[in-house]
Amino acid sequence: MSLAAPDAAPGSCASPPRRPAALEAIDFSPVRRPLGEARGLPNAVYTDPDYHRHEMARVLHGGWACLASASEVPAPGDVKPIEFGGAPLILLRDRKGAVRVFHNVCRHRGARLVREAACKRPGLVCPYHAWSYGLDGRLMKTPDVGGPGRHEVEGLDKAATGLLPVRSGLWADFVFVDLSGDAPPLEQHLAPLAARWARYDLSGLRRVESMSLTVRANWKLATENFLESYHLPVVHPSLNGYSRLDDHYYFEAWPAVGAGTSAYVPQGEAGPALPRFPGLEDGEAAVGEYPVVFPNLWLGVQGDHFFGIVVYPEAPAVSREVLHLYGTSPQAGDAAFAPTVADTLARWRGVFEEDVGPVEAMQAGRASPAFDGGVLTRVHDPASHRFMQAIAERMD
Ligand code: FES
Ligand SMILES: [Fe+2]
Repeated sequence: MSLAAPDAAPGSCASPPRRPAALEAIDFSPVRRPLGEARGLPNAVYTDPDYHRHEMARVLHGGWACLASASEVPAPGDVKPIEFGGAPLILLRDRKGAVRVFHNVCRHRGARLVREAACKRPGLVCPYHAWSYGLDGRLMKTPDVGGPGRHEVEGLDKAATGLLPVRSGLWADFVFVDLSGDAPPLEQHLAPLAARWARYDLSGLRRVESMSLTVRANWKLATENFLESYHLPVVHPSLNGYSRLDDHYYFEAWPAVGAGTSAYVPQGEAGPALPRFPGLEDGEAAVGEYPVVFPNLWLGVQGDHFFGIVVYPEAPAVSREVLHLYGTSPQAGDAAFAPTVADTLARWRGVFEEDVGPVEAMQAGRASPAFDGGVLTRVHDPASHRFMQAIAERMD
């Protein structure tokens, strides 16, 4: 005889579903207190594989998140597979030039469809039984599915068996995805940041360089580090020379939160100065702002260039940061600017490499059973606290 409780009948007073065990053990209340009283997030959210799985479902797949730069698939037929918080996805550009995202899984027996990035493909062919799909996701050919030489079979509705689309949208040059399917429209979601940055014309951005870094630390620690300027004089003495801690401020235009400086001085005599965003006054051109667009896109706007870093959580303690560097207009792609672009990338590379050691040291510290989330100050941590609170809101 089964001792299990019977299922609740429809309409009965069933108790609410219990939180998964990996979350049940985590106390988010200390981070939810006001800044000054709050503690940081507890160790388990940076280390526990079960928690990580739930976090990917609720944070990366639970609303808008950044998948990639659209410049990664510049031409029709360009295709790129991306593992996104454990979900295999395909980013591609269709024949009409539109960016599309699909789940990277064949509708037949579930083989992963695209294994490597490829250029100018007419469509996608599954490596298992060679079903093929158009760049619009339609199932095109099912060779021999009805027996040798018979390419149709009763019961297979090809029109209903196309690739599964992922809701996606484009802002600046960034592709956002909403795997939940029910987040508000992307434009509405990002309106506060678009309004704050109305003075920058982001429609002319030209990607001129990219690079990636792997960090042996949880993606949130890397993000929290991006969100505070307190470490500038210690970790980035050279950056602090032209973007000083004293000139920094914090701001929020949710889902963007971050720091800015009113005294960014473009560096380098490597080549001609990069073109500024059109219409910027001198004072505005000295502003640099560095928000995180929750959850996983870090941005940097300066008068003469722009960058976006997409952060991919690969495991609880492994993250990949992919930096896309942009000029403010297509002109920035001219050969004459190549030395300036190389110099600009080298400076940012230096800064982000300097962050790796301290971020990995924070990860190592999360093994300490004595650590209690640590201290967040009103002066230095408003942005990282806001980020942690957003994590707590999604997870608690
Ligand atoms: S699993 Fe793709 S064609 Fe069979
Ligand atoms: Fe840093």
